[in-house]
Amino acid sequence: MTFPKSFYWGGATSANQIEGAWDVDGKGESTADHMSAGSLTSLRQYTKEIKKDIYYPSHEAIDFYHRYKEDIALFAEMGFKMYRLSINWSRIYPNGDDKEPNREGIEFYRKVFEELKKYNIEPLVTISHYETPFNIGLKYGGWSNRKVINYYLNYCKTIFTEYKGLVKYWLTFNEINISTASFGALNGEGILPEIDGPAMDFTKPDTKKSRNTRYNALHHQFIASALATKLAHEIDSKNQIGCMIGVGPASYPLTCKPEDVLENQKSLQQSYFCSDVQVRGEYPYYSKRFFKENDIVINMQPGDEQILKEGCVDFYSFSYYMTNCVAANSNIDRTVGNMSFGGKNPYLETSEWGWQIDPIGLRIVLNDIYARYQIPIMILENGVGANDILNEDGTVNDPYRIDYFRNHIQAMREAIEDGVNLIAYTAWGCIDLISASTGEMKKRYGFIYVDKDNDGQGTLNRYCKDSFYWYKKVIETNGEDLN
Ligand code: BG6
Repeated sequence: MTFPKSFYWGGATSANQIEGAWDVDGKGESTADHMSAGSLTSLRQYTKEIKKDIYYPSHEAIDFYHRYKEDIALFAEMGFKMYRLSINWSRIYPNGDDKEPNREGIEFYRKVFEELKKYNIEPLVTISHYETPFNIGLKYGGWSNRKVINYYLNYCKTIFTEYKGLVKYWLTFNEINISTASFGALNGEGILPEIDGPAMDFTKPDTKKSRNTRYNALHHQFIASALATKLAHEIDSKNQIGCMIGVGPASYPLTCKPEDVLENQKSLQQSYFCSDVQVRGEYPYYSKRFFKENDIVINMQPGDEQILKEGCVDFYSFSYYMTNCVAANSNIDRTVGNMSFGGKNPYLETSEWGWQIDPIGLRIVLNDIYARYQIPIMILENGVGANDILNEDGTVNDPYRIDYFRNHIQAMREAIEDGVNLIAYTAWGCIDLISASTGEMKKRYGFIYVDKDNDGQGTLNRYCKDSFYWYKKVIETNGEDLN
C-alpha cells in the first residue's frame, strides 16, 4: 500500500494566523485584526476600535511577513511538496472596495511564491480565510450585501492575473460551510458579528432572522465562488479551484435507534450542503424542505442558477480534526470541537482541548466523499493542538502529535487502497500559529515550535520539534515509513 508518486505532502496556514505586520506596507485593517485573544473558557472579543489595552494576536502573529524565507527553508527541509497559505485581501485591497490595488501587498506574495518555487513547493492559495477587509464589514455589512461579490471578484481578478504561472491551485473560501452554523461569525465567511461583542459565540441561540441572513450571505458567497472559479479558468486554463469544507461530513448516529440515524443523515446533508452546490452547481434536492422548515428564503436573482452551473469546482478539499455523534434527543453528553458541539463518542479519546480523535473516521469520510463526487480530494487541514514544552536544549518532544499523524496517515493509506483519489495532504499549522477559535499561541499544531506565549511575549525564534524529523522521513519515503 503506497501513496501515488505525485502525492502532495505539505502543510497549511492562514494569513491572519501567521503574518503579523498588520499595518505595514499599505495593508488595511482586516476583520481578524479586530479580534482579541481568548481561551477555551473565555470567548475572543471583536471590537470596533483597536484599543490600546487589548492584545490582538493577529497584529504580530508569528511575523511570517518578515521571516517567510526562514520558514519556507524549514518547510523545504521537511520536504514539502505543497504549502497551503492564504492571501490577506486587505493587503491587496486595503479597504476592499479600492479602485487600485496596493502594489506592496502584491509584491509581498509574489516574493513568497517565488521563494516556494525555488524549492519546488507548489503553493495552494486560500483567497479568503476567515477575514475580510474591515471596511467591507463596516460599510456593507459583509457578505449579507450582494455588492461584496463584485469587490471580491475584483480582488480575485487581480491575484489570478498577477500570480498567473506562479499559482495554479486556489480555494475560494475557507470552510465555507461554517456560515451555516448558528454562531455565524468569522465574518469573512458570513456576516459581520455585532461590533464590540464575542467574535464567535457558539452558545448563541439561533433566530429566524439571523438564520435567513446567514444563508443569504452564504448564497452570495456561492455566487462569488462560482464566478471566481469561472474567471480563474478563463485567465489560465491550468488553474484548479477547490471548495473547502470545514470538518468534513464527520458524524455518527449516537445509537442505532432509527430516529438517531435519521437525525444523523440530516446532519450529514448539512455537511454536504455547500459542496453539493459547489461541486454539482445547484442547490441539492433536500435544501427545499430544509429552507421551508427553517424559514429561509434565498434571494435568488435571475441568472444565479446559471452562474452556479458554470462555476463548478475542480476538486474537493476539507479539514478533518475529529468526529462527533448525533442523536434525535438534544439532551445528550456534548463534546467541544472545531466550530461544532456534537455528542460525545464513548469510544474516542480527546485532545487537550477536548476534540475527539478519530483516525478511522477519516477513512470513512474519504470513502463517503469520493462515492458522492468522484473528483480528486485534498485533505488541507488535519492535526492536533497541544501545549508543547520547549526544553532547555531547544528540543520539543511531541510523541502525541506523531501518534496522531501516524494514525491519520495510515487511515489515508487505507482509503487510497479502497480506491479513493486522494491527491494531497497538508497538515494544519505546520508551524505554530495563533489559534483561530481561542486566539491562543499555546494551542500548538506545528512541526516547528515558535517561541511566543499567549500574551505575545517571546523571541519568535523557531525550533524543530521531534515531529519535524518524523514528518521529514514520512515525506522522504512517500508515506512508507510511519515509525
Ligand atoms: C480550522 C480553521 O477550522 O481549524 C483554521 O480553518 C483553524 O483557521 C483550525 O486554526 C484549527 O482550529 P483552532 O481553533 O484550534 O485554531
